[in-house]
Amino acid sequence: MLTVEGLSKRFGGFLAVNQVSFDVRAGEILGLIGPNGSGKSTTFNLIAGNLRPSSGSIRLDGREIAGESAHVVCHQGVGRTFQIPRPFRKLSLLENVTLAAFYGEAGRISRLDAERRAVEALGMVGLPSDAAASTAGLGAAALKKLELARALATKPKLLLADESLGGLDRAEMERAADMLLDIRNRLGITIIWVEHIMGVLMRVVDRVIVLDHGEKIFEGKPGAAAADPRVTEVYLGKAQA
Ligand SMILES: Nc1ncnc2c1ncn2[C@@H]1O[C@H](COP(=O)(O)OP(=O)(O)OP(=O)(O)O)[C@@H](O)[C@H]1O
Ligand SMILES: [Mg+2]
Repeated sequence: MLTVEGLSKRFGGFLAVNQVSFDVRAGEILGLIGPNGSGKSTTFNLIAGNLRPSSGSIRLDGREIAGESAHVVCHQGVGRTFQIPRPFRKLSLLENVTLAAFYGEAGRISRLDAERRAVEALGMVGLPSDAAASTAGLGAAALKKLELARALATKPKLLLADESLGGLDRAEMERAADMLLDIRNRLGITIIWVEHIMGVLMRVVDRVIVLDHGEKIFEGKPGAAAADPRVTEVYLGKAQA
């Protein structure tokens, strides 16, 4: 579905993403992991059109999308969540997600259909969709659910989930993992899941890619990643001789 080839992003003299290549197959959940600052969110920003690549190619179902604007990429079927949720605080949950439904259709959808789609997306993530439900007092887990609902309302075929479940407790992390599994299994949406800790992600993903300092250092099955010396070195530090 997605083919990334030789993708690089330079910020001044700093190479945040360095010649990264990978494929995403239709229907899979691909984990994209790596320590803080390894280039995961930047990779998402490049795919989703929030940043322009310095070089490289990104093809979605064979069509080049590298350098396209975010709304164009969204309309091609790529939905994304942001690592730091920034909902419209003065709008209800329903209004937030309804706006996303409008965005996903470039406004070519009736208010009623957009709201219907928003109710469905909120239901999928387990958030209330009544008009009184507001963003006030939402905790980290609920804000992440709202991000997911906003992305789902754009009707993606590929979902880029920048989850980073750091602020969540163990049970909330497990539920977040199950939710992504459910989204893939029930809606048939292909997913790339970004995380900086390996933990719960490994139970859910079909394959995993590991980034370190902007470079891909591993690609394969989750079980093999945990046994790979380069991966354990990045996560646990180099074993002393
Ligand atoms: N707009 C920018 N300008 C300059 N440097 C940036 C910019 N965006 C990201 N960086 C740098 O690029 C590197 C990769 O950042 P990125 O956000 O992709 O990391 P990450 O893997 O998502 O980390 P985390 O797990 O902490 O979310 C970091 O060193 C970061 O400071
Ligand atoms: Mg990040």
